[in-house]
Amino acid sequence: MRRPLHEQLYEQMRDRIRSGEWPEGERVPSEHSLIAEFGTSRGPIRQALATLRAEGAVDGGRGAPPRVRRLVPTQSFQSFVSFTDWARSIGRRPGQRVIEAARRPASETVADDLGVEPGAAIVEIVRLRLLDDEPAMLERSAFPFAVGKLLLAADLDTGSIYQTMQEHGCAPVRARHVFDAVPADDLDAAALAVSVSTPLLRVRRTAWAEDSSLVEVADDRYLPTMASFAVENTSDA
Ligand code: GLP
Repeated sequence: MRRPLHEQLYEQMRDRIRSGEWPEGERVPSEHSLIAEFGTSRGPIRQALATLRAEGAVDGGRGAPPRVRRLVPTQSFQSFVSFTDWARSIGRRPGQRVIEAARRPASETVADDLGVEPGAAIVEIVRLRLLDDEPAMLERSAFPFAVGKLLLAADLDTGSIYQTMQEHGCAPVRARHVFDAVPADDLDAAALAVSVSTPLLRVRRTAWAEDSSLVEVADDRYLPTMASFAVENTSDA
């Protein structure tokens, strides 16, 4: 099915912002010139601009001329995907640097989160996640040993953790997400190349496999310039 015209226009405009063809801080070309250039009517152009505005990729409105802002990619939480799949879905190249990957005894907190006994073997993996080589998020994940050992045996530098879990039949199929903001600690700051205390967007995920076993708890800290989150819902009424 052909996508609506305003969506196609939106994507073309978004690509221009992304590529720098429309540079940050500059005025967006006037509606008049966009109509002439794209050879469409005013409606779809306005809708495309409204979508960019809702995403924060352009500002202005209420009479002020719209200007290009940095495009912050949105991650939908309608369903959940791995970082790798999210990056690809927004046309970015996913990347990672493994900061730590180790088997260790579960601390009291992690044991509570993972539902294992304190001191039980677990696997902790800390990775810096990149979008087109730019630091975007610091991910701290903990796994029960049965799952974690599969990951320690896999190529964490290039592979997708969820892909590996999928191959072993323990991919997460259900998750609970909690969103909040946290000040960057020393590790966040060093990895994400920001100052300590910079506000970060945090997503905490608890994920279960098909057989209802808890397979991951994660604490992901995103640079607010690199991600925003969206959920589309219907009302209960
Ligand atoms: C996201 C999730 C993490 C998960 C990761 C897997 O970042 N929030 O909980 O570990 O995706 O990513 P990938 O499959 O790309 O390694």
